[in-house]
Amino acid sequence: MKKIAIYPGSFDPVTNGHLDIVERGLKIFDKIIVAILHNPGKKGLFTIAERVQMLESALKKFSNVEIDTFNGLTVEYAKKRKAQGILRGLRAMSDFEYEFQMALMNRKLNREVQTVFLMTGLRWIYTSSSIIKEAAQFGGNINGMVPPLVQQKIKKKFGKKSTLAKQKPT
Ligand code: PNS
Repeated sequence: MKKIAIYPGSFDPVTNGHLDIVERGLKIFDKIIVAILHNPGKKGLFTIAERVQMLESALKKFSNVEIDTFNGLTVEYAKKRKAQGILRGLRAMSDFEYEFQMALMNRKLNREVQTVFLMTGLRWIYTSSSIIKEAAQFGGNINGMVPPLVQQKIKKKFGKKSTLAKQKPT
């Protein structure tokens, strides 16, 4: 049987840290479905369509990676997609509490799906979509932290407006 994992998240936008987790995940799973949560109540920097486009461009070399969107519970989506695993990346200690709580809640909601945590590469330990957006917003150099298309698109977004409201953390 094919081992399938859902890799859920906001991906606003995808970073090299996320790509690192996908590559590591492919060593365990036969297929990974990168699933962008479509949460109408939370406005991101990028639209869902833009996030899909950036993920597709960054992951096009993997035939066993699919990009999709979902709403509602991750475990329900995992069941619908016949996935056995939910893949999440862990950086420093600060991720642990939130991830632990979410994994236990997901297990309570559906005992058939296992959350699998993978440690991100050391070079991505301090990066996140939020901190990269914050740096870029104020003209910081984000070279090498995100795929080329993301870098281009971030530049375009922030180049358009002179003052920008601070993005909510994702
Ligand atoms: O990239 P993020 O923002 O850390 O991803 C969070 C995400 C999308 C994985 C999480 O918010 C999620 O799974 N949301 C869907 C609702 C759900 O199933 N919540 C967890 C159990 S209540």
